[in-house]
Amino acid sequence: MRRKLAAGNWKMNGTRQATAQARDIANHPAPDIDVLLCPPATLLAAFADLPINTGGQDCHMMTSGAHTGDLSADMLADAGAAYTLTGHSERRTDHAETDTIVNAKSVAAHNAGLIAVICIGETLAQREANETLAVIDSQLAGSVPDTATAANTVIAYEPVWAIGTGKVPTLDQIGEVHSHIRAHLAKRFDDADGFRILYGGSVKASNANDIFAIDNVDGALVGGASLTAADFTPIMDALGAS
Ligand code: 13P
Repeated sequence: MRRKLAAGNWKMNGTRQATAQARDIANHPAPDIDVLLCPPATLLAAFADLPINTGGQDCHMMTSGAHTGDLSADMLADAGAAYTLTGHSERRTDHAETDTIVNAKSVAAHNAGLIAVICIGETLAQREANETLAVIDSQLAGSVPDTATAANTVIAYEPVWAIGTGKVPTLDQIGEVHSHIRAHLAKRFDDADGFRILYGGSVKASNANDIFAIDNVDGALVGGASLTAADFTPIMDALGAS
């Protein structure tokens, strides 16, 4: 009943030349899943006509104003975005974004009609200290706003230590966190069963089948392996077949 989602986060990669890769990804048949690319905002308009969803990587919590260099959720929507990431660990680290800020940005996304992909995940030190589930609980409690519904919110579980490192949690560890997220949402939201929960962190074609077979994994948020059609389309295929 949950429609699976293959999402690519291009981070600070890609100029107009990369439109060819996006076009190849968009034209790859994937009838049973949703596909989302979050390119740098400079490319959103160039990707707007492609037959996939596009999203921002971040949005400001305000709708407009004196915030040099920032983008509002309305601007992302105006450039064709249907989604935006909020609270990616690189934003939390590089820009000191707290759960309170991520919450406000997610509300701004909802108000603009965007689907917020709210990112959470523990650091290696937190995992080694056995704090993973407590960190997940506090990030969910703080970052997911009351405006969230299954239709306007996706949760992305991205262990910080798995991002861009080639390290992936065990399948049991992923399953434990995803079922914990589902149970947490169920305490707050009547439609908790409908929220899609993505796994992110070193997803590639070689581990996608195993990850997509885990209960409560409804897709992936992919960084490096989403930059080319050669790397991303096998992940889309694995999700469609799961
Ligand atoms: P990698 O797939 O490159 O590990 O990045 C994951 C990520 O941060 C996606 O948002």
